[in-house]
Amino acid sequence: MNIKAISENYILKTYNRYPLVLEKGEGVYLYDENGNKYLDFFSGIAVCNLGYNHKKINEAAIDQIKKLYHASNFFYTKPQAFLAKKLVEKTFKDGKVFFCNSGTEAVEGALKAAKRYLYLKGEKDYKILAFKNSFHGRTLGALSVTGQEKYWEGFDVKNDNVIFIDFNDKESLKKVFEKENIKIVILELIQGEGGINVASKDFIETLLSLKQERNFILIIDEIQTGIGRTGKLFAFEDYNFEPDIITLGKALGNGFPIGAFVLKEYLKEALTPGTHGSTFGGNPISCSVANVVLDEISQKEFLDKVQKISKLFMEKLKELESKFSFLENPRGKGLILGITTKVPAREVALKALENNLIIGIAGNNDTLRFEPPLIINETHIEEGFEKLVKALKKF
Ligand SMILES: Cc1ncc(COP(=O)(O)O)c(C=O)c1O
Repeated sequence: MNIKAISENYILKTYNRYPLVLEKGEGVYLYDENGNKYLDFFSGIAVCNLGYNHKKINEAAIDQIKKLYHASNFFYTKPQAFLAKKLVEKTFKDGKVFFCNSGTEAVEGALKAAKRYLYLKGEKDYKILAFKNSFHGRTLGALSVTGQEKYWEGFDVKNDNVIFIDFNDKESLKKVFEKENIKIVILELIQGEGGINVASKDFIETLLSLKQERNFILIIDEIQTGIGRTGKLFAFEDYNFEPDIITLGKALGNGFPIGAFVLKEYLKEALTPGTHGSTFGGNPISCSVANVVLDEISQKEFLDKVQKISKLFMEKLKELESKFSFLENPRGKGLILGITTKVPAREVALKALENNLIIGIAGNNDTLRFEPPLIINETHIEEGFEKLVKALKKF
């Protein structure tokens, strides 16, 4: 049975897939249909932060499967209630959660909540500020705040109410607030898909002082940076402020589909019965797993380890930069790291794959992107960089 051929025949080609048919995962390794073993430095796009075949996750999912797969949101369930309590306790006192199925839906919901709050306050003719090279998802609303035109073409998403400026550009930020009535700002604190661009402290401080003056709703997209990825449970913790809304997805379910947004108490009346909803949102299996994920990842020792291993990873990237003239600017935080490559990133990723290492790419095919499961250790890093060096020597 040729799985690649069947897939190419029957599945709409929206992805340029790596030529691998994956069959199972164990810890930080993935195995293909022929039993070949791959070290995973990508976690299924920053999703499997606790790796694969994790005992506690398996137990939570299997226990829940035996009890109840699904309940509509016309009912209460324990896993959903416990997860909501945990999320609020770890984010904003007296905040509220909405559960959905994916990151892009979390962004849609967050935008709806912000817009409806402003509507109820009688705010009109305001603008939304978003950033060039951002990525917030593929639905029409999320695309309208995604600052990469290549994703818009042909979809009629251009929205004159959304303004894009350069990320990390303080002067443009000040200028745009002088000219425009901005009431919603959405950003990632590290642009993942856009090229692993870390928001500078300076830039965020400027944004926060403008917020004091101008009073807008600040949405931080933590879909990729959240759940321990940066070495903190949420990326915003590193900048010493509280957003008004955060969006979550990806690693929250470690592979089980779930998204969420959490908003501050003052916004809670924005969405009431009938204004928003989801059939599958807060699915009991995904929520049971997410409870385990949060319990594991929010432990201080776990996050300390991520920060420690991150230093070693970054040292290795710096070594690569000095060894290979086509690599430059290693960057990132925790285990969301990248390095610019002058040879096409996809070609490097394919060569790495031939050496049994899975890495990602970002930006305009010019960034090697590393987002391994957060459980990697020193030995895995040594192994991964040996494989990567072998691949890079081919260029
Ligand atoms: C920052 C950010 N927001 C939103 C999304 C969209 O999430 P999903 O693909 O789960 O809908 C992504 C996915 O890459 C992301 O990285």
